[in-house]
Parts: sequence; C-alpha cells; structure tokens
Amino acid sequence: MFYKKIMLINQSPFLQTLSGTPQSPVPVWFLRQAGRYLPIYQKFSQLIPNFWDRCFSPDISSEISTFPLQEFPLLDAVIFFSDILVIPKALGQKIEISEGIHVESVNIPEMLENFDLNLFHKNLFPVYQGLTFTRLKIPEDLPLIGFTGGPWTLLTYMIGANHPDRFQATLKYAQEDTERFRIILTQMANIIAHHLINQISMGANVVQIFESWAGAVPQRFIEEWLLNPWQQIIHAVREAYTEIPIILFPRSYPGNMKVFNDLEGVTAIHLSEDMDLQACAKQLKKELVLQGGLHPSLLKQGGEFLKMEIKKILKIMEGRPYVFNLGHGVLPETPVSHVHKCIEWVKNYKNEH
Ligand code: CP3
Repeated sequence: MFYKKIMLINQSPFLQTLSGTPQSPVPVWFLRQAGRYLPIYQKFSQLIPNFWDRCFSPDISSEISTFPLQEFPLLDAVIFFSDILVIPKALGQKIEISEGIHVESVNIPEMLENFDLNLFHKNLFPVYQGLTFTRLKIPEDLPLIGFTGGPWTLLTYMIGANHPDRFQATLKYAQEDTERFRIILTQMANIIAHHLINQISMGANVVQIFESWAGAVPQRFIEEWLLNPWQQIIHAVREAYTEIPIILFPRSYPGNMKVFNDLEGVTAIHLSEDMDLQACAKQLKKELVLQGGLHPSLLKQGGEFLKMEIKKILKIMEGRPYVFNLGHGVLPETPVSHVHKCIEWVKNYKNEH
C-alpha cells in the first residue's frame, strides 16, 4: 500500500519536473495559495479569529491546506497551511499576529544558547500532525509541500519586527557584532534543518526554504548571511533524506544568480518577479529546476495581458524543467476567477502550439 502511494506521488507532474524531466503541460501551484484572497479562507478565519489557533490545531491547519484544491482541482501541489514564524514561537519568543505582527524583544543569543530540541519538537508537534492530516486528506498522487523561512528572513522578524524599519534594525544588530551574528545564523540554520526534517518525516513530499527578504542583504554579506546558511540547511536535510526535493526561494537575490549552479543539493530555485527570467534560464544549468516568476499584480489584473505574460514565461522555460508559479505570494485582492483562468491558460499552452 505504502509503496503504491509513493509510486503515485512520484509520477505526479510536479515531482517529475523536480526530478529533472520537463512536463507538458507544466505543473502549477501558487505561492500563498491557501491565504486570504480565498473567500472560504476568509469565512473560516472569522470562525477561528486567532491566527495561531489556525496554525496549531491539526484539524484546522489540514482543512485550510485543502481549500485551494476545493476551488482549483487542477492544482499540481498543495502547500501546507502554516507560517514561517512558528519557529521563533516554538523557541519561546512571544509573537502576536493580527493586523500587524508584534514580536516580543528577547535576548536572541541567550534563547538560541538554551535551545532544547525535545521541547522544540513538542511545541511544534501540532503543526507536524497537521501535515500528516493533510497528507491523508488530499489525493494520493498529489505532492504536499512543507516549508520554512530562511535564517536571515526569520531573524529580520525576530530582531527587527518591533522597529519602524525592520531591516535597518537587523542590519544594525548584525554589524554591531558580526561574530555574534554569524553564530546566530549557524544556530538558526541547524534549527531550520530540524524543522524541515520533521515535516518530511510527518508527511511533506517536498520542502521549500523561503528567504523572502534576501534582497535586503548588503552585497558584502551575501556569502556569510545567505549562501553559507543555505548550504548548511541543505546539507543537513540531504544527510537525512537523499531524495527529497528542496526548493529555495532567494527572493530578489542581490548577487549573481550563477552561484546557484554551485549550491550543492538544491533541487529548484523559485524566481521572484524582479528577476530576469530569460537570463536565469540561460545562466542556470539545466539540471536546476526553475519555478515561479509571474508578477502577482498581473494575476490580480487578469485579462489578455496576463495571458500574454504566461505565454512569454512558458516560451522562455520551454525545454527545461519548470514549475509555473508567481514571483511572490498571491495578492489579497486577487479575484478567484483570475486564478482559474491562469491555471486554464497554463494547462492549455501546449495545445496552442
Ligand atoms: O510570502 C512570502 O514571502 C513567503 C514566506 C512568508 C510566509 N509568512 C509564508 C506563509 C513570510 C515572509 C511570512 C511572514 C508573515 N507571516 C507575514 C508577512 C509580513 C510581512 O513582513 O510582509 C504575515 C502577514 C504572516 C502571518 C500570516 N501567515 C497570515 C496572516 C497568513 C494567512 C494567510 C494570509 O496570507 O494572510 C499566513 C499564511 C502563510 N504564510 C502561508 C505561508 C506559505 C500559508 C499558506 C498559504 O497562504 O498558501
């Protein structure tokens, strides 16, 4: 039974693409597809107004994870409903999410020094159970994506969230004592790897690392604050799971994209809308799977312009393994009908050629 299930997932267009075989039509899913642009999610959120209650109740997080599928049965993957901030929360930092995000100021080195793996697992167990429940609720041949924030992105919230300029505060903290920051990044990378490994063991078939604020890293720190921690996380996950696809989202990456050709063990790079897709398709080796790139505003706008852009992207990516997606999360005001159209256009692309 179990073997049959693995076979089904492996044959899915998404996993086939991630294993390096281009698919036609290309698989499609949307970053933040379970979120607030969906009317059913909005209604559900009124019933369970506290965000953390939604994340830490396995029945609820698994139910929300299936919402996009109910609306768009042709999606090629499900992303688990959770948040990148479950990590600092599980480390003991108080975080409130309502209109904005409010984060308790804590002594980060002290908190990380006292890291207790068992307690971390225990605190996050309801999240991991949610993944298992989701795995059981969705079709057997549909891959489930687990995720995490990258170390730098998480630290911008953990250090900077209560300051008017989050990045300024984090940069100041980092440069005050660069050695202290290097140690923190290493500790965070270790914790993040545990989080991904746990998600895989509880039901995730693919994992994605969201370094959503990579663009805020000054050039001279790229290696130390981004590349080294990513490599550390990927190595640790690869040591536990040799085959699991690992997708990296280095949003607005401030350096030369060619570095991704040398990042060991990474399966795919998720491209943000500000990246030159043509240049990426040219510079990045064919074994590296690409995902994303569509401007979220175009999905919000819909219409002919969206259709043209979809065709343009699919043309650029022809012949290499590519997963259709946005360059960043679905915007809250995006009409559901535009998402339907987008999926239809992606799926019909090959018929028109
Ligand atoms: O968008 C990204 O860059 C992806 C990485 C990321 C997530 N959360 C993943 C996520 C980031 C940077 C966050 C931080 C975060 N958490 C924010 C953004 C704040 C900022 O600085 O701009 C917010 C508002 C939250 C809290 C949060 N997370 C809410 C209120 C929700 C519910 C739905 C929504 O979009 O409002 C989430 C869900 C969430 N965060 C998902 C993911 C992958 C769940 C899956 C999905 O929506 O598809």
